[in-house]
Amino acid sequence: MAIERVPTGINGLDELIEGGFVKNSAVLVTGKTGSGKTTFITQFLYTGAKLYQDPGILVTTEETSRSIRNHGARYGWNMEEMENKGMLKVIEVEPFSIDTLVTMLEKEIQSLHARRIVIDSVSMFEMYIDKQLEMRKLLFKTLRRLKDLGTTVVITAEIPEDSQSLSRYGVIEFAADAVILLQYMSLTKYKRSLMVRKMRDTNHSQDIHPFEMMQNGINVLSV
Ligand SMILES: Nc1ncnc2c1ncn2[C@@H]1O[C@H](COP(=O)(O)OP(=O)(O)OP(=O)(O)O)[C@@H](O)[C@H]1O
Ligand SMILES: [Mg+2]
Repeated sequence: MAIERVPTGINGLDELIEGGFVKNSAVLVTGKTGSGKTTFITQFLYTGAKLYQDPGILVTTEETSRSIRNHGARYGWNMEEMENKGMLKVIEVEPFSIDTLVTMLEKEIQSLHARRIVIDSVSMFEMYIDKQLEMRKLLFKTLRRLKDLGTTVVITAEIPEDSQSLSRYGVIEFAADAVILLQYMSLTKYKRSLMVRKMRDTNHSQDIHPFEMMQNGINVLSV
């Protein structure tokens, strides 16, 4: 049976990954501060609701819902309109409890019939749970539960400035089915780049692709 794909809404990305994320998979978008993670997940969710009629939930641990809406508005994404239509929901959570998060999300997913869910970011959970094995198990369980409920999940994590790994403690990437790395390079012609670091069941591009944050959001360039 052919694998079902979820269009990402990120211009230029779907053609690098066989048409989109694998349906009901968990994707990690990781990068250093300011690399474009929040823009990426907001674009995925907003476009999903607007263009593909996929209801979605945005969980934020780091910004207020208001700042998420304002952020979206800068790219012409009217989040409130979609929220009023029952297509989107923005939820602020305290980062200390990943356990209660799942119970809360189960209810929200069912009432919205959500098909996309994003968590920006899981790094705060990572810092609250000091045992790496615990974090890996808990995150794995959480993502599996969300996938079982029929959603495609995109989470973000931050990479500390001086780190070469894909997340703070090198744990989150193993719980995800796919990893997209966003980078900022001050000395090159194109300042921002995206790389598909892994994507299960997908013959994805292995290259580093420059992208630009344009008026309509992230555009991956074909150079
Ligand atoms: N309207 C805009 N057009 C183009 N670029 C923008 C615009 N607004 C912000 N930016 C750029 O995007 C960066 C922030 O992007 P974003 O918030 O998506 O990154 P992030 O990886 O989530 O950062 P953080 O570490 O704060 O979580 C800003 O630092 C700025 O360089
Ligand atoms: Mg952010």
